[in-house]
Amino acid sequence: MYIHELSLRSFRNYEQLSLTFDHTINVIIGENAQGKTNLMEAIYTLAFTRSHRTPRDKELIHWDAEYAKIKGSIYKRNRRFPLEIIFSKKGKKAKLNHIEQKRLSDYIGALNVVMFAPEDLHLVKGSPQVRRRFIDMEIGQIQPRYIYHLGQYQKVLRQRNHLLKELQRKPSADRTMLGVLTDQLIEHAVTLVDRRFKFLQLLRSWAAPIHEGISRKLENLEITYDSSVKVSEDMDLATIKINYEEKFREIESKEIERGTTLVGPHRDDLIFYVNGKDVQTYGSQGQQRTTALSLKLAEIELIHSEVGEYPILLLDDVLSELDDFRQSHLLHTIQGKVQTFVSTTSIEGIEHDALKEAEIFRVINGTVENQK
Ligand SMILES: Nc1ncnc2c1ncn2[C@@H]1O[C@H](COP(=O)(O)OP(=O)(O)O)[C@@H](O)[C@H]1O
Ligand SMILES: [Mg+2]
Repeated sequence: MYIHELSLRSFRNYEQLSLTFDHTINVIIGENAQGKTNLMEAIYTLAFTRSHRTPRDKELIHWDAEYAKIKGSIYKRNRRFPLEIIFSKKGKKAKLNHIEQKRLSDYIGALNVVMFAPEDLHLVKGSPQVRRRFIDMEIGQIQPRYIYHLGQYQKVLRQRNHLLKELQRKPSADRTMLGVLTDQLIEHAVTLVDRRFKFLQLLRSWAAPIHEGISRKLENLEITYDSSVKVSEDMDLATIKINYEEKFREIESKEIERGTTLVGPHRDDLIFYVNGKDVQTYGSQGQQRTTALSLKLAEIELIHSEVGEYPILLLDDVLSELDDFRQSHLLHTIQGKVQTFVSTTSIEGIEHDALKEAEIFRVINGTVENQK
């Protein structure tokens, strides 16, 4: 799939913008703080209805404006369809084929995007939250129903935490209700964990050979799920459920004492091992970078195998960060099959045949000039 046209209105530092892209490689060149990342962010936001760099939608609206609009024309399975998102102070509206989608899970997944940016190193180095967000977003874009379950889980989690706080202050509060909420929470937790397990199996099968390739067969990558409840990928749904129930019974008084839910998918994590060693703790900067890159390239292949089309790839300020071998490995992998956006302050240092055919855009202070 690819994005053919993009238009922005009052999005970040773009007041008005309309661009037509090449379906192979588009290079966005500009000095710092001109709007390169903002442009990438617009494409990412069009796919996910939220930014990759802020949870606060109102930051996306141009300072002097009331609302922001992103419109895109997407080609998928040789058919063209429009996507549109409007952010205002009241909230956001997402339209697919001109029709507003009330549930975001009916919208997300129409456009698949994989972004690789400098902060993706945090995927390996950062807090568990970053990895949970990664896994949730990636499952969500190939399986929109997952987003629905995640939303339900988070809703019950909030109610349950609220009640636990109340019980913490007043032990006579509603214990029966706690049981009801625990059952509901487990119901959604089991679904989430099961889908994460299945996703992980796919991710692993793509990421391991890719990592081996990038590291010239020197490194082997393993990924494990670090669960707050004793469950594993070989368990069936019923067993996962039983283990969850047991755990919640076991920790009930502790949860009341702390006034919060102590286990569940919102506390789980992923661990990456290179040659048997935890990369987060023992990996070099280079190994962490290779791991992040392998995961992103694996996502591209995974989406292709699940959705039947390659996603759009956004490489924000990362290509020049990679050494020559990794750069050409990456460009070679995507060449001719993945619409790619590359942002950089300078084209020097990026040497590859693929770029000869690229469309070049120059960004200066919220305006974009097509140079080819
Ligand atoms: N909501 C906003 N309204 C107007 N300008 C914004 C908004 N958010 C960020 N900017 C501006 O966007 C610019 C940063 O753009 P960015 O795309 O991150 O730069 P880069 O080209 O370095 O990637 C800064 O000048 C910043 O002031
Ligand atoms: Mg930037």
